[in-house]
Amino acid sequence: MKTAIGLVALTAAFSFGAPIPKIQQLPFGEADGKPVSLYLLKNAAGMEVTITNYGGTVTSIKVPDRNKTFGNVVLGFDNVAPYQATTSYFGALIGRYGNRIGKGQFQLDGKVYQIATNENGNTLHGGTTGFNKRIWDAKDVSTPKAPALELHYLSPDGEMGFPGNLDVTVRYTLNAKNGLEIEYNATTDKATVLNLTNHTYFNLAGAGSETVLKQRLTIRADHYTPIDNGLIPTGVVQSVEGTPFDFRRGNVIGSRINEDNDQLKLGKGYDHNFVLNEPGNLKEWAVKVEDPGSGRVLEVYTDQPGVQFYTGNFLDGSAQGVGGAFKYRSAICLETQHYPDSPNHPNFPSVVLRPGETYHSVTIYRFSTEE
Ligand code: GLA
Repeated sequence: MKTAIGLVALTAAFSFGAPIPKIQQLPFGEADGKPVSLYLLKNAAGMEVTITNYGGTVTSIKVPDRNKTFGNVVLGFDNVAPYQATTSYFGALIGRYGNRIGKGQFQLDGKVYQIATNENGNTLHGGTTGFNKRIWDAKDVSTPKAPALELHYLSPDGEMGFPGNLDVTVRYTLNAKNGLEIEYNATTDKATVLNLTNHTYFNLAGAGSETVLKQRLTIRADHYTPIDNGLIPTGVVQSVEGTPFDFRRGNVIGSRINEDNDQLKLGKGYDHNFVLNEPGNLKEWAVKVEDPGSGRVLEVYTDQPGVQFYTGNFLDGSAQGVGGAFKYRSAICLETQHYPDSPNHPNFPSVVLRPGETYHSVTIYRFSTEE
C-alpha cells in the first residue's frame, strides 16, 4: 500500500503534464492488530474529504458555506477506536447487503441461505461484522483531473452466510465540481445477493449542530416502500401522494416528522426506502438538501433504484465526535441502494449477482451554495 502511494508521488514529481494531485496518507490508529490510515483528498476549489481504509469510511467532508467559510458537514471521529466501537455505521461502506434482510433468510436458485442476524432476529447492513468493520486495501489512483482513492476487499465464500467469494472495489473520486463520486464494482464466483451503499450522516449546518429538522429536502420519488414493526418492507410499493413521505416539491424535514402517521411511528421518524422516479439517470439529481442557515446545498446523483432516507432517529448524543455530541436527529443519511429485503420480494428489482457478471454502481454527493 505504501509503495503504491510512493509510486504515484514519484510519477507526479516527474510527469511533464498537469501535476497529479497527491493524496496525503496519515496514521489513524490500529485495528485488528494492523495500522490503519486516513487519506486526505483535496481539490482545486479547496474542498477536502478524508477517508479511512477501516470500513472504507468517510470521516469528514469540508465544504464552503455562502460566505466561503469551510466547515465539516458529516458526522465522524478523528481516530479509528470509536469506529470500532460504534453500531451507528458513521460514514462507512455497507455490505454485503445494505439495510435489512428479514430473519436473515432468503432463497436463491432453490437453496435457503441463513445470514448472521444482528437486529431483532433480522440482518442489518451485512450482519454481525459487515464491510464497515473490515480493513480495506487502499491505493492512490489520482489522475491529473482529480484525486481518487481505490479500496479493495475480498469477502470470502460464506462470510456472514453469504455465498461466493466476492471481490469488491470501491473508488472515491473528488471531482472539480465539489462532487464526491463513489463507484462500486464487484464480481463473484457463485450466485449471490448484493446491495452496496455508503452510510454517511450529513448535516449541512456543520457536524455537531443541534438538528437537521429545519433543512429542506426534495426527493424525486412518487413511491416509497412501507415497513413493518421490524423496519422490513411489507412488499407494498405505496404512492407518496397526500402523505408525509411526499418530498417531490421540497419540504422542511421536520415539518411533518411528528405527525400521527403509522409509518412514521414504525420508523421512529423517517427510516424508509424511497423509490426513485428515474433509476439509472446520473444526469439529474435524485435528492436535494438545502440548509437555509449556511446556504449549503447537497445534490445526490445515483444510478440506484432507491434511497434510504434516515433522520438519525437512533442517535442519542452518546457518541462524541468531531464537532460535538451526535444528538437525536442531528443528521440525515441518504443511502442510495436497492430496496431493503429485496431477496424476499420478487416484485422488487433483483439484487442477484452471478459469476461472469460485474456489479457496477455510481453515486455522487455534490456540494454547492445558494445565496
Ligand atoms: C439504516 C437503518 C436504520 C439504522 C441505521 C443505522 O439507516 O435503516 O434503521 O439502523 O441504518 O443506525
